[in-house]
Amino acid sequence: MSNEHQTLNFSDQDLLGKVASVDTSRVAIDVSNSTLLTRIGVGALIGIKGTTEHEYLVGIAERVTRSLRDELPDDLPQGDELIALSSVPTDVVQCVMIGTFRTVDGSKTNTFKRGADSFPQIDRQCFVIAGANLQRFMGILGADFPENERLKLGKFVADRTADAIISGDKFFQRHAAILGSTGSGKSYAVALILERASKLKFPNILVFDMHGEYEPLANKKGGGFATRFRIAGPGDLEAPADDVLFLPYWLLNRDEMLAMILDRSDQNAPNQASRFTRHVRKLKQQTLDREKKVEIAKTFTVDSPIPYELSDLMECLKKDNTAKGVGVGGKEVKGEWEDKLTRFISRLDSKIEDRRYGFMFKPPAQASNYDWLAKQARNLLACESGCGIKIIDFSEVPADVLPIVTGTLARFLYDIQFWMNPDKRTPVTLLCDEAHLYLPVRDDADAVQKQALGSFERIAKEGRKYGFSIVVVSQRPSDVSRTILSQCNNFMSLRLTNETDQAVIRRLMPDSLAGLTSILPLLDTGEALVLGDSVLLPSRIKLDLPTIVPSSSTREFWKDWGSQSPNVDAISNAVECLRSQTRGV
Ligand SMILES: Nc1ncnc2c1ncn2[C@@H]1O[C@H](COP(=O)(O)OP(=O)(O)O)[C@@H](O)[C@H]1O
Ligand SMILES: [Mg+2]
Repeated sequence: MSNEHQTLNFSDQDLLGKVASVDTSRVAIDVSNSTLLTRIGVGALIGIKGTTEHEYLVGIAERVTRSLRDELPDDLPQGDELIALSSVPTDVVQCVMIGTFRTVDGSKTNTFKRGADSFPQIDRQCFVIAGANLQRFMGILGADFPENERLKLGKFVADRTADAIISGDKFFQRHAAILGSTGSGKSYAVALILERASKLKFPNILVFDMHGEYEPLANKKGGGFATRFRIAGPGDLEAPADDVLFLPYWLLNRDEMLAMILDRSDQNAPNQASRFTRHVRKLKQQTLDREKKVEIAKTFTVDSPIPYELSDLMECLKKDNTAKGVGVGGKEVKGEWEDKLTRFISRLDSKIEDRRYGFMFKPPAQASNYDWLAKQARNLLACESGCGIKIIDFSEVPADVLPIVTGTLARFLYDIQFWMNPDKRTPVTLLCDEAHLYLPVRDDADAVQKQALGSFERIAKEGRKYGFSIVVVSQRPSDVSRTILSQCNNFMSLRLTNETDQAVIRRLMPDSLAGLTSILPLLDTGEALVLGDSVLLPSRIKLDLPTIVPSSSTREFWKDWGSQSPNVDAISNAVECLRSQTRGV
């Protein structure tokens, strides 16, 4: 092979300097070519000559410094006249070792792998990988992944002619996080990834959409590809449309239900919990008997999602609460549970009556059918009605129940995946937009939030084994559960201006890469630093624009004020919407 075709082909102009010091993963380069120094910044790629001529160790510049030191001139005068010290710059580039490039590697040529096989040696020559070298080098990065694994995200900032390709398999396999301040381009990034996935035959991604932003992606007339569902709002209870989702109370396990209804500070809480558990179990048993599900009746538990009627539960609880006991000689005494369930009953009652909780406590009649749940699961997890990308709109769910709804739905989906025959299982990803709203840091969570958090943390910890992963999207990484973030193996970080948020990301990085986070506040809109096992190199990528953009909530204040008068009727209507707790009157 002639030199011209080699991926890395350095000339003297590319020579930056020599290795001056080495510690485990970092190398300081004593720069001899000062003009080159002005052209490199944090993130620049450096090739260091390895132990053989076929090998280069590849590093990323994380600090570029110039300091001046005083030096005696080279030719000292003979006499005793005063000598002026001259200021000479000492230029140092510190870089992190990230991989090894080989022009020849066994039978292969031009290979790059993560990790440095050997330590760089002192005085080895260091080159800047730029221009044509960079172009060819970036080219091999994506080419390293098999064709059917490639997920194209955009272009490398370092070289805008090279496609930035990551491994779609690895990105989704072991959880990912998309982080960035508002307006940095997260939603667009999500839309882009969904769009790329939609080109696959059977993608299976469920998007938890908090603001109804991704609706255009499901708008078939506008070229949308996704299927959209909506969590039932107060206006959907009477005649729910097909795309309206209910999460009936009987889907909740015992702990989820109690987290919502039980007041733990009540001295009767233990009694209330135990009566509730007993009755629910009994009612579920009755359903199974009626449906003649003999096998299931042998092994089910109180947590099994089996329909029962709330009115029956209420009746049992009220009976407990009023029943008298029988004392010595058949005398009537205060009952064992008498008056102890009053507050529990009224708390349950107020939830049932609150129409905002209708999606849970007022499911349509057909939801009580034993077979309804399987149908619901198929709607959510299969691709029968077209594309397997589903947008679930939570925009009408009240904030105080958001954690329990997201948590219950996530757990339900995960449980199905968990119990599925492993030979027939296909991978599923949950994309959690605005995750700080329902996956908070544990210390800040209340009982309901903790319960929901538990479901997600379980998925984060064990989901991979069952082909179930999550993608966390948030503008406030410092408010997102650390347990969940620390399970993420891939990070796509867009511009992040807040210092506390940057610190979170820094802590999640392997030590050697922490320095790269210094570019986070400087990233342009739609630019991301992508790190993790889905990329061979931590890379700064300018993301492509999605064809169908999410509906932006960004209003053009100044322009609008210049042209649009507030709509009086819309204001009156909004008041009615507020009263009815439904949109679109
Ligand atoms: N890849 C991109 N290239 C260029 N502009 C972008 C890109 N992604 C987003 N933008 C611009 O940034 C704005 C905010 O993006 P958005 O995804 O809504 O941000 P976020 O979800 O982080 O708040 C968009 O309206 C769009 O104009
Ligand atoms: Mg957004």
